[in-house]
Amino acid sequence: MTLAANTSEIRESLIARMESVFGDDSRRIDHAMKVLGHAETIMDASAGVCSLVVTAAAILHDIGIHAAERKHGSSAGKHQEIEGPPIAGEILESMNIDAETIDHVRRIVANHHSARDIDTPEFRIIWDADWLVNIPDEYDTSDSKSMSELIDKVFKTPKGRTIAQELFLGKE
Ligand SMILES: [Fe+2]
Repeated sequence: MTLAANTSEIRESLIARMESVFGDDSRRIDHAMKVLGHAETIMDASAGVCSLVVTAAAILHDIGIHAAERKHGSSAGKHQEIEGPPIAGEILESMNIDAETIDHVRRIVANHHSARDIDTPEFRIIWDADWLVNIPDEYDTSDSKSMSELIDKVFKTPKGRTIAQELFLGKE
């Protein structure tokens, strides 16, 4: 498979599929696109990473959120981690993505709130990109001492940590 040429087409198709799953929920679409943006920036600074896995996992990481709300009445991470992988897998299978890539993306989606069972370079990028988008929604970014401690604790890639320091601690 000629990956480089294909990845940008797959990227566009995945965005369209994600948008159709989320429908009029523009907040979720916006979130996925922001995570994708950060993931691509971190990926550019990382060597030896599968760009298709990162791209697909960034776009699809929260894809189970509506199913979780429907079936469990809650978008809590543990429900999303169950509902997301089959939906992500179905979308990727319909695009003829290879089984190994699909399995990796499914495992990232299944762990993106808990980081329980996976620690690949691609996973770390999605983890950091999601934190970069979620921190301002969930924490008081004006408290620089606890921000600094949080950043030291959660980020798994050097580039993710650097971006967090720039965004939330005003470090250049
Ligand atoms: Fe997310």
